[in-house]
Amino acid sequence: MNLDFIPESTRAAGLGALMKGAGALTRVLPIPQPTLLIGPGSSRRLGQAIAAFGHEKVLVVTDKVIVRLGLLQGLTDALTEGGAEYVVFDEITPDAPIPLIERGIAAFRDHQCDALVAVGGGSSIDAAKAIAVAIANPSRSLRALAGYYKGLRTPMPVYAVPTTAGTGSEVTVAAVIADPERSSKLVIVDTRIVPRMAALDPELATGLPPAITAATGIDALTHAVEAFIGNWATAQTDALALAAVGMIFSNLRTACRDGGNLQARENMALASTWAGMAFTRANVGYVHAIAHQFGGLYHTPHGLANAIMLPHVLRFSAPAVTTQLAQLAVRAGLGEATEHEEELAEKFIEGVCALNRDIGIPTTLEALREKDIPALARAALREAHTGYPVPRYMTQAQCEEMIRAVLPSAGKDDQAPRKAARRTATKTAAKAGRKAAPKTSAGARAASGRKRRSAQA
Ligand SMILES: NC(=O)c1ccc[n+]([C@@H]2O[C@H](COP(=O)([O-])OP(=O)(O)OC[C@H]3O[C@@H](n4cnc5c(N)ncnc54)[C@H](O)[C@@H]3O)[C@@H](O)[C@H]2O)c1
Ligand SMILES: [Fe+2]
Repeated sequence: MNLDFIPESTRAAGLGALMKGAGALTRVLPIPQPTLLIGPGSSRRLGQAIAAFGHEKVLVVTDKVIVRLGLLQGLTDALTEGGAEYVVFDEITPDAPIPLIERGIAAFRDHQCDALVAVGGGSSIDAAKAIAVAIANPSRSLRALAGYYKGLRTPMPVYAVPTTAGTGSEVTVAAVIADPERSSKLVIVDTRIVPRMAALDPELATGLPPAITAATGIDALTHAVEAFIGNWATAQTDALALAAVGMIFSNLRTACRDGGNLQARENMALASTWAGMAFTRANVGYVHAIAHQFGGLYHTPHGLANAIMLPHVLRFSAPAVTTQLAQLAVRAGLGEATEHEEELAEKFIEGVCALNRDIGIPTTLEALREKDIPALARAALREAHTGYPVPRYMTQAQCEEMIRAVLPSAGKDDQAPRKAARRTATKTAAKAGRKAAPKTSAGARAASGRKRRSAQA
């Protein structure tokens, strides 16, 4: 859809109404939730369950790092003990590209498998979901399966063991794969690709390097925050998002510093799953829309791209979601509910910057080039404005300026989002999807509406 010819104000109003309508639908859409097995040893218990369900041969979709670290052992031993055969497809690379998924499809067929179990990060889980859809719908190419409910037939059963925390893919309706020919990412969306059962086994995450722990942890934070501030939030997604944000602020630093801390690993796995449950209904926003373009063009790890953009998008969105940001600050332990909302909202954005800094997230994107910015912004806005219920609409110029703020030369300090936002922001707050909150305390504001219910949950 080309939205460029419509005046900004009309576009914002129209998109807001359109997204509200879509939100009324997503609110009631039945989304299955997998049975969750949680705790040390749960991947072994998942293997027992898969065998007990009568699957005869399972395709284990994973990558070589997971195999080398011996992380399949518990699961595969249990499959064998339970009488189920398995074949390991360990070729997954980050943002699994189409040709690789096609090899996975061939492996599933050649070995006559009847189910898939993904062990790994979002790339492995999403590859398994894509294989599951493609096997059930052989007449359609992977490109043709991208989008909403493009496969007629029900996908093959998928089980998941996430080893990052993370994408939340173990509970989501989405599978993200890469289209290398078009330097872009494709998203397959179908409620039937939600895994049937998932194991959150903290023992498998103890060897996750600090940099990946950090980036994937902020991906989970971004899911929770974008679900919470977006216009499709419900009381239930609010409760999940708030819980996830609290859990991440109190565990991510520890998980990065002390990777062997099982409690922190388990808490991060839980937070990631809760954030996944929140955004699979309430959806994401501009952070993801921009991050997907960085991933498609520069192969920036998904979590890292989100982490770099999150403070900038929050500062831009703040006038429309002051109340929500204040509530997030309180839940993150960054302030008291008695403080003024504007102060709390500011504390939340500063808190995200501080968390990023403490866990080693850079403030700029090394690969970013000035010449790419207009096209990146255009693609990000196309993605956001045709699918995401963002609380405040952004123009092409605002998006470009936001991306420009993370150019490698654009300054290496936390002031970057603040300075960029001052330039782009908030003269147009009145035009925003939601109005800026009056200067009252978060506690007082929380006494009304949806946000009160969520704050208490
Ligand atoms: N389906 C969804 O709802 C959803 C949501 C967000 C992101 N995604 C997609 O997920 C992908 C990213 O997934 P990710 O961030 O989990 O990373 P990933 O799966 O790409 O893995 C990143 C790296 O971490 C390594 N790794 C994973 N677990 C490990 C462990 N326990 N110990 C040591 N190394 C380990 C992997 O080998 C890999 O090199 C992207 O394609 C993104 O677009 C999907
Ligand atoms: Fe994400």
